[in-house]
Amino acid sequence: MRIGINRIGFATARYYLDMDELSAHNQTDPNKYRTGLGQDKIAICPPDEDIVTLACKALSPIAASRDLSNVDTLLFATESGIDQSKAAGIYVQKLMNLPKQMRIVELKQACYSATAALQLARSYVAEKPSREVLVIASDIARYDRDSAAEATQGAGAVAMLITQNPEILEIEPISGLYSEDIMDFFRPNHRKTPLVDGRFSTTAYLKALEGAWEHYQQQGGLADFKALCYHLPFGKMGVKAHEKWSKLNHQTPDFSLLDAGLIYNRQIGNSYSASLYISLCSLLENREDLAGQRIGMFSYGSGCVSEFFSARVCEGYQSALFHQHHQAMLESRSPLRYEQYARWHTPDDGEFGDAVFHDSESGTPRLAAITQHQRRYQP
Ligand code: HMG
Repeated sequence: MRIGINRIGFATARYYLDMDELSAHNQTDPNKYRTGLGQDKIAICPPDEDIVTLACKALSPIAASRDLSNVDTLLFATESGIDQSKAAGIYVQKLMNLPKQMRIVELKQACYSATAALQLARSYVAEKPSREVLVIASDIARYDRDSAAEATQGAGAVAMLITQNPEILEIEPISGLYSEDIMDFFRPNHRKTPLVDGRFSTTAYLKALEGAWEHYQQQGGLADFKALCYHLPFGKMGVKAHEKWSKLNHQTPDFSLLDAGLIYNRQIGNSYSASLYISLCSLLENREDLAGQRIGMFSYGSGCVSEFFSARVCEGYQSALFHQHHQAMLESRSPLRYEQYARWHTPDDGEFGDAVFHDSESGTPRLAAITQHQRRYQP
């Protein structure tokens, strides 16, 4: 049975910080960010945008174009959780009028969790082929201001409808795994921003790529890919990953396999669990020669868990994409001055039970207020 991604939509914040604005504040050469990290812009959320509103916006083109009454499971992947108990997907269910006969859970393992959700969804649909699963990944990547990691912030969400006989991507059964207990990046409960050992994290990522790729090959997986997508904390990490993967296969790196997948992320920055799948959208929407072809996918989540898996692009996939919607969203964004970004960097999260959020004109749904510790969304 063919199982995979039937529809995929993504959303990002309406506002961004241009790398020139950050470098003017930092007095850093802008080429460090544009060339050294491979980033032009990073998406910045206003206080009335959170992982729930981003998730709804990612899901909206799917919900507008397709009946979702066969969906009985919503898996919400995030590391920017808004509640220690309640799953963020329950707000999405209500705001998007999804069926009430549904199981909804939240999954966490840094940037990796969306891939766990995708593989669980695939197994579930194999067991119950008439059922459909929504996999949502939504994150706001926020580091301390004036830290080395600040230029690798961002925000975004992806929604994927997983079904039998998919129209976009068939997920293949082999996957290579690599996990190890390390402290490259983590966020204890008492902190709003993560603690990160940046340089160590990049070497840990490459080590995990090697481990996952070896495991993939041990199971008979081949390297005949027409394109590859890697988890993208920043664009240059994808370049380093592709160099590493090519070296492991005794090949000269062919960057034409990578380039289309970098385009959107270069404008958005890190979106943690959503990053790999925004890169997938970027690849599918910016190449026209992928029908019937195999692509390789590498998912990495600090801490660390990683997975290398492959997928085959479906014939006619382009007609199932939301290319124009995504393009219009990216083009309609507005730049922020550094001072405005700084004011939004650490929003009031209703710590004392109540907060009211100014309308940032990011559209609906929006987080309007927190009243007696309860989040109030304006649909
Ligand atoms: P840094 O100290 O600012 O940067 O930290 P650097 O000094 O290492 O320079 C970066 C690159 O810019 C270097 O290139 C420089 O040569 C170059 P490289 O040697 O790496 O090829 N450079 C210039 N290029 C052109 N013109 C110039 C110039 N100056 C320097 N004038 C770092 C960079 C990524 C470490 C930092 O931003 C950071 O800590 N980021 C957060 C951690 C991160 O993203 N890690 C990635 C791997 S872990 C991961 O992916 C998981 C994650 O997504 C979290 C999760 O799983 O949930 C983060």
